[in-house]
Amino acid sequence: MNYPEMRLQRLRQNPSIRKMVKEHHLRADQFIMPIFIDEGITQPSKIDALPGIMKHGLNSLNEEVKEIAESGIISVILFGIPKEKSETGNNAYSDDGIIQKAIRQIKHAFPNVVVITDCCLCEYTTHGHCGILKNNSTSDTFDSEATLTILGKIAVSYAKAGADIVAPSGMIDGMVISIRDALDEQGYEMTSILSYAAKFASQFYGPFRDATNAHHFNGSRDHHQMGVSQGKEAIREVLMDESEGADMVMVKPGLPYLDVVRIVSEQSQLPVAIYQVSGEYAMLKLAAEKGIVDEVSAFEEVFLSMKRAGASLIISYYAKEMAGYIRENL
Ligand code: PBG
Repeated sequence: MNYPEMRLQRLRQNPSIRKMVKEHHLRADQFIMPIFIDEGITQPSKIDALPGIMKHGLNSLNEEVKEIAESGIISVILFGIPKEKSETGNNAYSDDGIIQKAIRQIKHAFPNVVVITDCCLCEYTTHGHCGILKNNSTSDTFDSEATLTILGKIAVSYAKAGADIVAPSGMIDGMVISIRDALDEQGYEMTSILSYAAKFASQFYGPFRDATNAHHFNGSRDHHQMGVSQGKEAIREVLMDESEGADMVMVKPGLPYLDVVRIVSEQSQLPVAIYQVSGEYAMLKLAAEKGIVDEVSAFEEVFLSMKRAGASLIISYYAKEMAGYIRENL
């Protein structure tokens, strides 16, 4: 059939018809909002590289979670900025660590909010690497055994504080099975694992490193994060984590890896999360500030591309604002 019989514009002729035939929708409960919690601050503090996002101390945390929950979002992912770092990052599994305190506080005030905790060493080590280093601290290679043991301890301490989901983000081989074993051994069989399964060694994490006071990090993550040229390898990563007991898998960053999301969503049985990382967020924000794009429409367009690619969950610094917009307009 050809024009004039075939008129695709029939289904675009007014807002109601366009709404009826919409193939994909954004819902607030599909979004996960990141929160930075800094042990060293008592006032919310701006993050220069992430316009519109604040770091919180424990005293302003509940206010922030309340706003997030009121926007319609039901889950948050927590990142800690500890006062003290060490060579081995032991502070990360202290019962009195910043994240453990934050989890208890959030769960006490908002029992229905799903609390996810990023589970990695890089914010807790003096050298900024995601694992314990072999031999000396200038090397980029990890002592895998020691790293996996400590990741298990961190996950258990988060579960003990009340986290619903732990999210190992270090791309360390064996991290999922080690964490699953550690959790089960301590009686936390119901704590879920969201694995950062296909995480690429990306340029787009820059503002996050600013947010977590890791500007000093000048090492490389190429030994453990995936090379940006890899596609099939992402599937191996995902299937490995699935076989090790991950409950959900993540592709990260988002927009440059939609092809990976598409294949992963077809090949994995698990819910697929996509992480619109700090650099992606900052680029859109800055473009909007310059008047190059309309902010909310640009974010909506990107999020819909992620849904089309097959993502079921979206982690984004724009989650709270998007949820507010969805409630008022969509
Ligand atoms: C920790 C971690 C990073 C991000 C999330 N968890 C940084 C990194 O791997 O260097 C980045 C998130 C973002 O840029 O928004 N391993």
